[in-house]
Amino acid sequence: MLKGKNIILGVTGGIAVYKAADLVSKLVKQHANVEVIMTEAATEFVTPLTFQTMSQNKVHTEMFGLISHFDVEHISLAQKADLILIAPATANTIGKIANGLADSLLTTVVMASKAKIVYAPAMNTNMYNNQIFQENMNKLKALGHDFIKTGVGRLACGDFGEGKMAEPSEIVDYVISSFSKKDFINKKVVITAGPTIEAIDPVRYITNHSSGKMGYSLAKEAKNRGADVILISGPTNLEPPDGVEIIKINTTEEMFEAVGKHFEDCDVLIKSAAPSDYKPLSVSPNKIKKGNNKEELEIKLIRNPDIAQYYGKYKNKQIMVGFAAETDNLLQYANEKLKSKNFDFIVANDVTEPGAGFKYDTNIATFIDNKGNIDKYPLMEKSLLSTLILDKIYDIIDMKAR
Ligand code: PMT
Repeated sequence: MLKGKNIILGVTGGIAVYKAADLVSKLVKQHANVEVIMTEAATEFVTPLTFQTMSQNKVHTEMFGLISHFDVEHISLAQKADLILIAPATANTIGKIANGLADSLLTTVVMASKAKIVYAPAMNTNMYNNQIFQENMNKLKALGHDFIKTGVGRLACGDFGEGKMAEPSEIVDYVISSFSKKDFINKKVVITAGPTIEAIDPVRYITNHSSGKMGYSLAKEAKNRGADVILISGPTNLEPPDGVEIIKINTTEEMFEAVGKHFEDCDVLIKSAAPSDYKPLSVSPNKIKKGNNKEELEIKLIRNPDIAQYYGKYKNKQIMVGFAAETDNLLQYANEKLKSKNFDFIVANDVTEPGAGFKYDTNIATFIDNKGNIDKYPLMEKSLLSTLILDKIYDIIDMKAR
């Protein structure tokens, strides 16, 4: 997701420096080129060698080191940066930048760069709440610098409160989002995710293996690209992405109702959920007992509403994207669903293939659209697949607008 991006990571002196090593590793996994500048105080907590190993780049620490080739370091670093991220960012460094001081390599690079500057502050609660720090932060915000929200919790000094550095995964999400194109601004995107559950009795239910990962990844991508996202989710263990409106449901009937509330004024409906097609005809009010001679138990099931098929009949401006989870005849069955549910395109995944479908962080997909185009994709992260799905939706919206 960050291929070709040059990120300067400024590491300043606080106990959260140890988390910055994980942050570098996560940024590199997203294919960013990371160059680390450490302040002198930061090197007291972790050695530059750690960051050199994680980033596979030279770590910059000195303002006035002897140069091995003629390249004014603070200028070349400042010029090549697509983003300067300072994590952890101490009150001291933030204060210096806010007041125009350039007394270290990091503060000098910030001063000399036109790149976006993002801070992940980390400090004691009293320092965080101190009016001087707050004024410095507000001054920088007014100049267009971004601050990633600190967490509330037990701090290294033993105090409890605001000032904990955001987790590396949150910082990476923020960085990805800041590079995302904003082509879904003013678009309302409704996404269904996860399984549904249908009660048999008060302690048992019917469900499937959907983890919600595919739908949550789509929600994150749509949000990053500026959409207003409504995520209608069956039971999962996942945290909804920041800024997304979440509607939690259990049954297919509840998912049907929730989609109905938002269908008319949405621009896009993505049906990545795996709703149960059937539910027990009646739910036993008490736990069903085994009984002594009861070797078999029959539960009569009845059809649930087909959400996509129902709303597909009423679609006008909405772009509808379906998924087909198949174990055989992938293209044939996916094509039938594309037509019967009036999807603009369908994402077919063979859930028997290793790395594809339920629970994995990856998927293997084939897009089939209503013009007969078929695009097969290899195994990839669900995050990258989400980008491709949103790209295709954007192309359809763009074509319709012409
Ligand atoms: O959640 P993960 O663990 O990340 O797994 C991802 C996934 C495998 C769930 C996802 O990639 C996927 O394939 N989702 C669709 C699962 C499914 O229900 O497929 P289906 O072929 O039964 O349904 C076809 C389409 O109709 C789907 O878009 C489905 O959401 C929709 N549908 C199905 C039944 C129903 N009653 N109403 C519906 O709208």
